[in-house]
Amino acid sequence: MAASIDEAEYIWKNGELIPWADATVHVLSTAVQFGSSVFEGIRCYDTARGPAVFRLPEHIHRLRNSWRIYRMDPGYSEVDLVQACLDVVRANHLKSAYIRPMVLRGYGSMTMDGIGSPIETVVPAWKWGAYLGKDALAKGVDVCVSSWARAASNTFPGMAKAAGHYNNAALIKMEAQRLGYVEAIALTPNGIVSEGSGQNVFAVIDDQVVTPPIEGSNLQGITRASVFQIAHDLKIPVKEMLMPREALYSAQELFFAGTATEITPIRSVDDIEIGAGAMGPITSQIQDRFLHIIGGQIDDVHGWLTPVG
Ligand SMILES: Cc1ncc(COP(=O)(O)O)c(C=O)c1O
Repeated sequence: MAASIDEAEYIWKNGELIPWADATVHVLSTAVQFGSSVFEGIRCYDTARGPAVFRLPEHIHRLRNSWRIYRMDPGYSEVDLVQACLDVVRANHLKSAYIRPMVLRGYGSMTMDGIGSPIETVVPAWKWGAYLGKDALAKGVDVCVSSWARAASNTFPGMAKAAGHYNNAALIKMEAQRLGYVEAIALTPNGIVSEGSGQNVFAVIDDQVVTPPIEGSNLQGITRASVFQIAHDLKIPVKEMLMPREALYSAQELFFAGTATEITPIRSVDDIEIGAGAMGPITSQIQDRFLHIIGGQIDDVHGWLTPVG
């Protein structure tokens, strides 16, 4: 089967830009055998002022937190990797892109901890469109509650964005799609709302924007933090709140927030229509401001865009 990825020309690997096809690892690399890789997903937008990367230092800082949690120092600084992201977008002449820095345990050790395997660092970037389908941003998506729970705290460290954790995300996503939904919302092992397979979840309850706290099962999303700031700027009350599953069914509005997903309204959960079954007014205000910031149509007052140059 042909790759469905829109391949670019170069990938940054261990300090060098090399041809896309040459950026390979051995099948017995620790990362392939045991999923020991940490990564980021970052978007570069074709703004009114040229290509710019959204919250690049924050993403690289989270990558650094992930590699510290898994004890795999790549030997590059955060500044080096910010530069690598900009270099790979520029070298490939991309205007908008998805950037996927990865730090992984390579080939050498055959033990599952991979201590002794070299740490490899790669930064691919390619052109990638809407993640949940082209109408999702405007019309919203239908989701279910997953029968798969997110990992309990102190099992897989939820604050690390690590490849192995995404086997759980794949189970959540595959079940949703098998049942005819676009996505699913997963609960914690205690039955409290956690997040989607690859995005944080927000609700509007009593005219307040609420989202689950970071309690070990969910990722501390950078879009999530941006929603807090945007809500604050719009003077919409926003807070963290533990949400039982049933709070989803009675919410005024629901939406997802994530780099790939951006701000996507949720129009039904388990076939129960949320609000009027279309994007709600508060989601619309937050999404509108987000889209205008990433498009460069309004001032980047928080310094969220790094120009590719
Ligand atoms: C499991 C999970 N939760 C939440 C998010 C949203 O995080 P961010 O907004 O930083 O992309 C992602 C995407 O990276 C994710 O994979």
